Amino acid sequence: MSTLAMTQFWSGRKLTGKNTVSLSETPEWLQSAYASVFRDLVMDRLREFLFAPGPERSLRKVVDLGCGPGDWSLRFLDFADSVIGVDVNGHFLQVARQAVQAHAAAKQAVFVQENILEFADYQAADLVCLGACVQYLADEDLDLLLSRLADKMPDGACVYLRTTTSHPLRKPYRSSIGHYRAGDDYERRFFRHGFRIARHFLSSQVIPERVARDLCGGKNFLGKILWWPVRLVDLARWHNDHMNWILVKERR
Ligand SMILES: C[S@@+](CC[C@H](N)C(=O)[O-])C[C@H]1O[C@@H](n2cnc3c(N)ncnc32)[C@H](O)[C@@H]1O
Repeated sequence: MSTLAMTQFWSGRKLTGKNTVSLSETPEWLQSAYASVFRDLVMDRLREFLFAPGPERSLRKVVDLGCGPGDWSLRFLDFADSVIGVDVNGHFLQVARQAVQAHAAAKQAVFVQENILEFADYQAADLVCLGACVQYLADEDLDLLLSRLADKMPDGACVYLRTTTSHPLRKPYRSSIGHYRAGDDYERRFFRHGFRIARHFLSSQVIPERVARDLCGGKNFLGKILWWPVRLVDLARWHNDHMNWILVKERR
């Protein structure tokens, strides 16, 4: 499947429910409930990383590529001076523009209708979010995007990447709706473009680890114990994984 075909698919798509853009078959009510808690917890992880060890300050600029209806972009407004959401789908962007009006920092957000392969305004971007959109790029276009990020982002700036990867025991594959690469394929590509991995975690880890942390004062081992049953079910379903990385652009 070419990037062009996948981009065309997305540009004509409508929302499936309340701000839901996922292609998964999980019932929409469950997706929305889970997605919101998941987003909060990932934001906590990002903030812990971005502002450690000092006090929380604000980031100059966050670019949210493939922002959809802006669910993530809006959260970035809590700790960024400006947020740019970029998407090909004008309908999703309209929803994002409307949703942001309720936010105290609405004026600090702009939503741009553009292909992420064309977008180039990364000047002073402290964080670029690639949330569930790189699986819609063919290999050569993914490399093109990464080389642009490497050229234009400031040194030390971060990328948050979340994407669907192939099941660890299955070969990477392409379907009519995406490219399901292995996790280490992404890692090698980012590495080649001068990024280092600062954190990585599966989406299924996020909630069990937080529950465990809240229950027993930050002891990570309990999180791993709570997560393993979830992980085993995941593996047995022979399903894709959902991986997350925080990457840092190294000085060149
Ligand atoms: C699965 S949704 C993810 C939305 C949001 N980032 C999130 O994590 O909830 C994928 C989004 O990427 C957008 N997209 C896909 N290919 C794109 C491209 N080449 N340029 C811009 N946006 C694209 C789609 O329109 C869609 O909004």
